[in-house]
Amino acid sequence: YGDASQKVDYVFKVVLIGDSAVGKSQILSRFARNEFSLDSKATIGVEFQTRTLVIQHKSVKAQIWDTAGQERYRAVTSAYYRGAVGAMLVYDITKRPTFDHIPRWLDELRAHADKNIVIILIGNKTDLGDQRAVPTEDAKEFAQKEGLFFLETSALEATNVEEAFLTVLTEIF
Ligand code: GTP
Ligand code: MG
Repeated sequence: YGDASQKVDYVFKVVLIGDSAVGKSQILSRFARNEFSLDSKATIGVEFQTRTLVIQHKSVKAQIWDTAGQERYRAVTSAYYRGAVGAMLVYDITKRPTFDHIPRWLDELRAHADKNIVIILIGNKTDLGDQRAVPTEDAKEFAQKEGLFFLETSALEATNVEEAFLTVLTEIF
């Protein structure tokens, strides 16, 4: 799925972060394998998946790292961020606290990652619009203030997932 070439010109490490159950693993699964599961288990430790795609006539291997939102299951922080050139900061649009915690994730990211890392803020689960607890405008404003890209996604409906990764990968490029 999505592999256009065997030869790899670049390998880009991108990390997923955000509270537990916001949909990080399902966003990755949608991007890497075009799969989605409603009974996704909480991640323990670190997992990663790759997908090779063509950007501006170059073959780019995206190596996407995914860890637990829950503190007790998290991996060693410094190792997780080492070498990352992109980050996806995910919250759930139906759970206000997951958005309120974004500044904390951003602090951790800025403390451990390269200062030139490309960051996108992602409001996931737009398919649950009737339960929305975070207005798009609030997130847009926050992203603007912090200099982050911003998109709302649905891993379930495959809305904007591809766009979110392409935004980060193209900007790294
Ligand atoms: P941790 O591994 O604990 O940090 O959680 P996570 O952020 O990886 O969440 P995960 O991807 O496991 O998803 C948590 C739950 O939300 C699962 O039941 C998913 O099926 C569901 N989910 C993920 N994305 C979406 C989405 O876009 N829409 C809906 N409706 N549910 C979603
Ligand atoms: Mg997970």
